[in-house]
Amino acid sequence: MIRIENEYSLFKALCHQTKLKVPECSSKVIQKLLDKGMKIYRVNDHYELSQTMSYLERSEILKHLDQDIIQRISDIIIEYQVNSTNESIHDYEQNQDYLVMLAESQYAGKGRRVKQWHSPLGCNIYLSIKFIHPKSDYIHFVPLLTAVAVCKGLNRLGIAVSMIKWPNDVYVNAKKIAGILVENRYNSASGNTCVVGIGLNVNMKDATAIDQDWTSLALEKNEFFDRNYVTGLLLSEIISQYEKIPDFNAKKFIKQWQEYDYLKGKNIEVIEDNTGYEAKALGLSQDGSLKILLNGYIKNIYSADVSVDTRV
Ligand code: BTN
Repeated sequence: MIRIENEYSLFKALCHQTKLKVPECSSKVIQKLLDKGMKIYRVNDHYELSQTMSYLERSEILKHLDQDIIQRISDIIIEYQVNSTNESIHDYEQNQDYLVMLAESQYAGKGRRVKQWHSPLGCNIYLSIKFIHPKSDYIHFVPLLTAVAVCKGLNRLGIAVSMIKWPNDVYVNAKKIAGILVENRYNSASGNTCVVGIGLNVNMKDATAIDQDWTSLALEKNEFFDRNYVTGLLLSEIISQYEKIPDFNAKKFIKQWQEYDYLKGKNIEVIEDNTGYEAKALGLSQDGSLKILLNGYIKNIYSADVSVDTRV
């Protein structure tokens, strides 16, 4: 009898829906998976999962990637657990192509504005893409381009309407489904690199740790989603947007953005440099900033935390 002592191997075996005989599993490892929220049940002489789960697999993701995009990816690294994919990806060498990292879980997932990103094991997508910063006047559009690409990916997955709360939170039915964190860094070997981190709620159905309205693909469509398939679609949409950066046309992009603009025309609360105020959102400006109406004057904001004022 072979006993599975490795946490990642046991996770994968359970995802395979294998009914694992109790003596085949280290109880210590079973406990670790339970602590990470996996719903494992003991039924007579074996363990099984109470819900369908799948694990991330490079070969499966490749099957769902558009052909021209595969050629632009240097590697897809899959980790069982990391602090944050946005951090770990920095340890890998960068060439002219896109480097992709995914993790089954993150123990210090980073959100915008020093928030934590809830990253339970095996149910969502925690994805980072690293590339050399293109010398473009439009590099600050990367968060916005990514959000539009995520919406397009969601559309291919059957979500008819998704919206973007400037600059890059993706909402479905007024609840957040995905968040994006873009971090630019300088590295002496590769120069300026851009890391785009995307967290997409896929099969998560409960999470008391999240302090805002959220949703997931599974909650919206009432079905299980294969994360390899979802990752393939997302990467195809995102990278094809980045490939267009050299010919970027802000006017054209703003038109596209308008289809997804969650804030336009709404009364909003803005927190900028620790100061909060109320305003009205007017839409996206040519330079990627948010145009707002504040006390009768038009103002552009470049970095702020914005929420919809629900009192009106
Ligand atoms: C937000 O606050 O809305 C941004 C969330 C970004 C989360 C993703 S998950 C993959 C990548 N790794 C991280 O630590 N954060 C990003």
